[in-house]
Amino acid sequence: MRRDRQLELIRRLLKYMDEGQTAYAPETYRNELSAYADPARFQREREIFYRQRPLVFGLSGRLAEPGDFATETIDGNPLLVTRGTDGIVRAFLNVCRHRGAPVAEGCGKAKMFACPYHAWTYNLDGSLKGIPDARSFDGLDKSDLGLAEVPALEKDGMIWVGPLDRTTPMPENPLGTMSEEFAEWGLGDYHYFGNYRMVHPMNWKLIIDTFLEGYHIGVLHKETIAPYLETNRSTFDAYGEHHRMVVPRNTIRTLVDQPEDERDLIAHAAVVYGFFPTSLAVIQGAANFELWRVWPDQGRPGWSVVDLSVYVPEKPTTDKARNFWQKNMDLAIRTVESEDFELGRIIQKNAESGTQDHTVYGRNEPAMTHYHAHIRSHLGLNETV
Ligand code: FES
Ligand SMILES: [Fe+2]
Repeated sequence: MRRDRQLELIRRLLKYMDEGQTAYAPETYRNELSAYADPARFQREREIFYRQRPLVFGLSGRLAEPGDFATETIDGNPLLVTRGTDGIVRAFLNVCRHRGAPVAEGCGKAKMFACPYHAWTYNLDGSLKGIPDARSFDGLDKSDLGLAEVPALEKDGMIWVGPLDRTTPMPENPLGTMSEEFAEWGLGDYHYFGNYRMVHPMNWKLIIDTFLEGYHIGVLHKETIAPYLETNRSTFDAYGEHHRMVVPRNTIRTLVDQPEDERDLIAHAAVVYGFFPTSLAVIQGAANFELWRVWPDQGRPGWSVVDLSVYVPEKPTTDKARNFWQKNMDLAIRTVESEDFELGRIIQKNAESGTQDHTVYGRNEPAMTHYHAHIRSHLGLNETV
C-alpha cells in the first residue's frame, strides 16, 4: 500500500484512539433476520450474486506457471481453471463434451486433460485434442466440442471467474475504484501457501458478517485475539460496493513516538478488504494474504462452504518458514471456527426459527450497513425494514 495512504490511515487510527472513537455510519440500520433463512430470497441471491457476477478464484499465485490448473465446484458449478502455455488464465466447465464426466480432478500441472471415461483429450485452452475411434464421430465438428468456456480475468494479481450464467459479461474491472489501491500490494508476486475448506450450518452472508466489524473482538475473542487487536476501533472506507476496514493491533500506540517516515501500518494492523458480496481478504502481520470465499453448500440457505486460502509474500523454503505460516493459518482457523462460527450456527438457528423479525446494526458497524444495504438494493428491497 502506498506510503501516503498508510500514513493517513495511521493518523486516523491514532486519532480514534485518542478520542475513544471508531468509524461511524450516519445512522443505525435494521435488517430482517429472515435474510439468512428465507428460501425464496436465497434462490434470488444465488441467481444475482453467484450466477450473474464474477467470483474471486484466488490470487495469480494459485496458478503460478503455464500448465498449472485447479478445479473447484462453486455453488454446484464444476469449474476447471488453467494457465495456458501462452500464460493466459482461462476457465471452463469441468464437464466432458462427450458424456459429461469431469476431465480434471484436484489441482496440479498438466499438458492436457484426458477424460477418465473414454479418454477424450483436451488442451489447456479447452480445445478438443483427440477422440479415440474418431471414425465413430464422423460428421461432428471437433472445433465445436471444446470445453464450454466460462469468463475469466486476471487483474491486479487476482483471478476472477464468471459470471457463471455464461451470459452476463465479465466486467472490465471487477474491483472498480478499489483497483488502484489493491494493485499497490504487488499481490501478483505472492505465493500460494495452501487452503482449508469447511462446511458450516450458516447462511453465506452470515459467514461474511463475521469479518465486518471489530465491535465483538474484546468480547467473543477475549481469550484468543483480543490481547493483540483493538476492539470496537476501525477505519471504514467504501469503494462503491466494495470496502476496506483497518483494525489496529494494540502495538499501534508505539507509532505515536515514531517519526512519520518510519511508520509502517501493516505491522500494526489488520487490513480487511471486502470484495462484494461473496469474499474478503485480511492482510496483516507479515503481510500474509488470507482470502476467505464463501458459497452455498448443496443449494441450502442455511449451509455454506467456506474456503480460506493463504498467500504469502515469499515462497517458504525452510521448515521454519513453513511452520511460521502454518501457525498463522491455524490461529485464523481456530479463532474463526471455534468462536465466530460456533456462535454463528446458533444465530442461524434463531433466524430459521422466525421468532424475531429484525436485527440492528450500530453506527459503529458501518461495514455491516454498507454490505447489507447493497445486498438489499440488488434484491430490489426497500432501504428500510
Ligand atoms: S465422457 Fe469424457 S470421454 Fe466419454
Ligand atoms: Fe470474529
